Amino acid sequence: MSSSYYITTPIYYVTDAPHIGHLYTTVAADIMAHYHRMLGKDVWFLTGTDEHGQKIQKKAKETGETPIALADRVVQRYLEAWKEYGIEFNDFIRTTEERHKKVVQAFIKKLMDTGDVYLGDYEGLYCIPCETYCTETQATNGKCPDCGRPVEKLREESYFFRMSKYVAPLIKHIEENPNFILPESRKNEVLGFLKGEVKDISISRTTIDWGIPMPQDPKATKSHKVYVWFDALTNYISALGPQENDAKYSKFWPEAIHVVGKDILRFHAVYWPTFLMALGIRLPKQIIAHGWLTDSNRKISKSLGNAIDPIALAKEVGIDGMRFFLFREFVFGQDGEYTKEIMYQRINADLANDFGNCINRVTNMIPKYMGNNPISTESYLTNPSELKTLANNCVPQAQKEMLDFSFNKALESIWKLISGVNRYVENNAPWTLAKSKDPKDKTKLEEVLVHCHESLRIASLFLVPFIPKSAKLALGYLGTESDLNLVAPLKTQLVWGSGPKAVQVTKSAPLFPRLEIPKS
Ligand code: MSP
Repeated sequence: MSSSYYITTPIYYVTDAPHIGHLYTTVAADIMAHYHRMLGKDVWFLTGTDEHGQKIQKKAKETGETPIALADRVVQRYLEAWKEYGIEFNDFIRTTEERHKKVVQAFIKKLMDTGDVYLGDYEGLYCIPCETYCTETQATNGKCPDCGRPVEKLREESYFFRMSKYVAPLIKHIEENPNFILPESRKNEVLGFLKGEVKDISISRTTIDWGIPMPQDPKATKSHKVYVWFDALTNYISALGPQENDAKYSKFWPEAIHVVGKDILRFHAVYWPTFLMALGIRLPKQIIAHGWLTDSNRKISKSLGNAIDPIALAKEVGIDGMRFFLFREFVFGQDGEYTKEIMYQRINADLANDFGNCINRVTNMIPKYMGNNPISTESYLTNPSELKTLANNCVPQAQKEMLDFSFNKALESIWKLISGVNRYVENNAPWTLAKSKDPKDKTKLEEVLVHCHESLRIASLFLVPFIPKSAKLALGYLGTESDLNLVAPLKTQLVWGSGPKAVQVTKSAPLFPRLEIPKS
């Protein structure tokens, strides 16, 4: 297994501030980056913004700004949101940066030289007021799908990418690498598309100014800008600085995992790989497509007017509450209906009641029944118990689920252990054992508490990537924050009995106060 790990989010349009959908993709990548850092991997986590093209140019016109002023303003909103949510990216790329533009131009130049990008005529249905092309199916009754005004047949000079040439090799690659596109259902969608009629695609635009210029070409009669998706997708490589930093590029590029929403899967699973094949660059390792967060079964988005501000939500339910809810409640590959009620219920039930209470109970009982000095755990942990059996089953299971991006299942597995602790406390009633005069009961009491402690150490450590602030606080109360130094990789530290031999436990303050569900 490679020791490097490269994970990316899509780069976000700077038309507007981030909403909960953007947060979802970004936190997913952040959890994976955090988890793999804890596993001891050398991680590179990239995010950024997509700043060229028609959408941005149009929005800037509306707001009366220059496109770059708009981008400079909106990018701050992304940076603020990601800071608030504790997103630990290694690099943030903006497509207006020089380091990016020069790679895009070099790529296009190479494809022009090899003949995979060629000059031709583009013919399609065009809406003049919106300045966009649409397909026959989109233009019902010859009307623009956006504004409803009549569309016209238009022909213009355009550069094309010879995508059709790479369809067969791409199908072969997908079939030979079953994990290249996940989940399975999305992979089949992509294969279905590829097995239909795939045409060469237009790779330049003459209708926009705000974009990266195509290289000079005496054959062209107009000034062309690079198609925004070619520009945007290249960020995954330009950010690694292939020309200047070959070591970084060679180390991370072959490990690339792109996390994307299902709406942009085709660009990542068809366009991008065929561009790369034409450039003679190896393909990314994996493309993971997640579903949408919906509101009354409609995608949550700024343009539909149902966007939800992540910073406002963090104020309401806390950063960790939000991070947890998004990945416990929804199945990563599928759509999930977002409602406030479900969010509050989930956070109260799992974090306030189960996890928070459990930490509180155990860190309260240990000093109460075993005294305020550090306790020694070693001698008790070799003995069997139902918690030990549970941890030995659930924790490896959760680790397996993480590798498949099955966040909700991994959390469910860890919750089996946390609920197990609550049950074990009830069944063994430490408060009754504490009243007994029998020395055997004293030993039993200590063993029960140490086994609860060990289970919570393991659960909290596993939860660090999901709820970093609260899980680290929990480890602090348990007296095992030294686990965070990761002297051994996470896998080893998650093994029963691998924690510090003596621990100083302190009674915890409530980790998650119960939330009052607002009346709507
Ligand atoms: N700029 C392009 C991506 C270029 S990547 C080379 C883009 N940007 S976007 O800002 O519109 O969306 C970025 C991501 O946010 C997509 O993965 C999209 O699926 C995700 N989400 C936007 N709304 C969403 C939901 N309601 N739910 C979940 N994710 C959604 O596309």
